[in-house]
Amino acid sequence: MSSPTVRPALGPATKAVIPVAGMGTRFLPATKSVPKELLPVVDRPALQYIVEEAARAGLPEVLMVTGRNKAAIEDHFDRYPELETALEKKGDVDRLAAVNESTDIAQVHFVRQGEAKGLGHAVLQAAAFVGDAPFAVLLGDDLIDARDHLLEQMLAVQAEHGGSVIALLDVGLENIDKYGAVAVEPREQTGGDGDVVVTVTGLVEKPPADEAPSSLAIIGRYVLAPEIFAVLRETAPGRGGEIQLTDALATLVERGEPVHGVVFSGRRYDTGDRLDYLKAVVRLASERDDLGPPMRAFLREFVAGLPAEGASPS
Ligand code: UTP
Repeated sequence: MSSPTVRPALGPATKAVIPVAGMGTRFLPATKSVPKELLPVVDRPALQYIVEEAARAGLPEVLMVTGRNKAAIEDHFDRYPELETALEKKGDVDRLAAVNESTDIAQVHFVRQGEAKGLGHAVLQAAAFVGDAPFAVLLGDDLIDARDHLLEQMLAVQAEHGGSVIALLDVGLENIDKYGAVAVEPREQTGGDGDVVVTVTGLVEKPPADEAPSSLAIIGRYVLAPEIFAVLRETAPGRGGEIQLTDALATLVERGEPVHGVVFSGRRYDTGDRLDYLKAVVRLASERDDLGPPMRAFLREFVAGLPAEGASPS
């Protein structure tokens, strides 16, 4: 193992990268022409919640890594003067505000991945935008509840300790083969929301349960040191023939660079997964001020009328 590079403090992360160039195969056929990141969660695209989260965490400059079939994403975060004028003429101020919200939350830039060669390859496309500073990565289909403050905690850990920080969730060994898994050492520290901070000592992408180092899975939030770019350039395609961010992080750990984990205990939805997507829509709708009361009334009635498990629905 080579010794870690000693370098001056780089200052806190100020930029966010959101990779959205994946093919969304788990949600076909809906995602054949509609990017999965634009599927509506109640009344706004999943991706808009993620841009809002970045802005809330103090990262208003966002780069989206897009690909083919993703032009609608650029349109969503761009102005639409004809629509704005039409709503203005009608005096529909609420809808006008809703339309402008997506353009006002952040300064959104775009770069194309060209070919979907994996998450690591997508992150590498952000090198010029990021420069030599730590930066956040938020996956475009991973929704963290706005009441939880995962990214803020991760940014605070990075600002205090340097290195890279990844978000972890205990998904149970039975589910770990769908995720990147980590080996960790506990630490004394806890994050602001009571989430536990750990030292990551090893990472492996989608291991079978009997080879997994733990049931802690990597979820879609990272705060990365810029050293990751040099490592990604040298990272060969791994699992699934894709250039894996997990493999590049494993190399950082092997080289003795610090990688911290924040074990998240809040609410998270993988909107690229059909069941998780449905749960997100139901939960967020039932908690809204406007739609919540009728939605909760409907749910109570619906649940009361459900047949027992095993019986066929009428
Ligand atoms: P996923 O593996 O969840 O995305 O990647 P996917 O490949 O679109 O999904 P399925 O499994 O086929 O349904 C996590 C994130 O990384 C992005 C995706 O858009 C998603 O936000 N990604 C993945 C890229 O930007 N480029 C890639 O080459 C791969």
